[in-house]
Amino acid sequence: MAEFADRVVLVTGAARGIGCATAAQFADAGATVVGADLDVEALEAVKELSLRLGGDVGDTDEAHQIIDNTVAAFGRLDVLVNNAGAWLLKPTAEITPEEWDDQLSTNLRSFFLLTRRAYPALAETGGNVVNVASIAALRFTTPHVAYASAKAGVIAMTRDLAAEYAPDVRVNAVAPGPIDTMHITASMTPEEKADFGRRYPLGRMGEPDDVAHAIVFLASPKAAYITGATLPVTGGTELGVPSLF
Ligand SMILES: NC(=O)c1ccc[n+]([C@@H]2O[C@H](COP(=O)([O-])OP(=O)(O)OC[C@H]3O[C@@H](n4cnc5c(N)ncnc54)[C@H](O)[C@@H]3O)[C@@H](O)[C@H]2O)c1
Repeated sequence: MAEFADRVVLVTGAARGIGCATAAQFADAGATVVGADLDVEALEAVKELSLRLGGDVGDTDEAHQIIDNTVAAFGRLDVLVNNAGAWLLKPTAEITPEEWDDQLSTNLRSFFLLTRRAYPALAETGGNVVNVASIAALRFTTPHVAYASAKAGVIAMTRDLAAEYAPDVRVNAVAPGPIDTMHITASMTPEEKADFGRRYPLGRMGEPDDVAHAIVFLASPKAAYITGATLPVTGGTELGVPSLF
């Protein structure tokens, strides 16, 4: 039987990139997949979804509705993937206080709102949460201090909620490195992408499916004894500087 048969999985930011690949992999594994995103039009094109929900995950009422509508539609929730996120690449001096608040709202507050609202339903099914953090929380990569701070918060939240919610609900995270999605490569040519990828130990940028595989693993019964972990999916990016020889 498929690993996620009869399971209901909610993926935020499912309209494109890592979220879209994750939704497709869960559907392949037999899950009923709900996708939530700001961009409802793009969500329509994700054929693997059984339900599409619009909304801003950083808004309290909209985040709560995403969880409530999922549980109302299918009567249960087994996995929450907090994936929706947005990047603000700017020197610190140019970040306005409003942009700081937006970054923290989309990339951190949303994870708190959705996870807390989902907890009763997840506890009922013995479910789990997978949060999408970032290499930005582990190493300096580029000037985006609001984003990096939010993602570091995601790692702390993952650890704390894993302890608080054990043994009912597991909470884990992945920390992607440079993944070929709109998020960072929208303006790059194929040659630029290949050059960029060669800087890293595994010699290429990651694909959305590389991250989705790790998310599906952490959500699966194979990871039943893993909680509070943050798994880097980075091609070795954080291991060190390129070898001298
Ligand atoms: N691509 C990378 O290299 C990379 C690296 C590290 C971490 N990440 C993280 O992975 C996750 C997915 O990134 P991606 O590269 O697939 O990005 P993406 O931009 O391709 O997709 C993100 C999706 O989230 C949605 N979204 C953004 N803000 C939202 C909000 N407030 N409410 C609801 N939906 C919202 C967008 O509409 C979009 O469909 C993000 O959390 C990102 O920070 C990505």
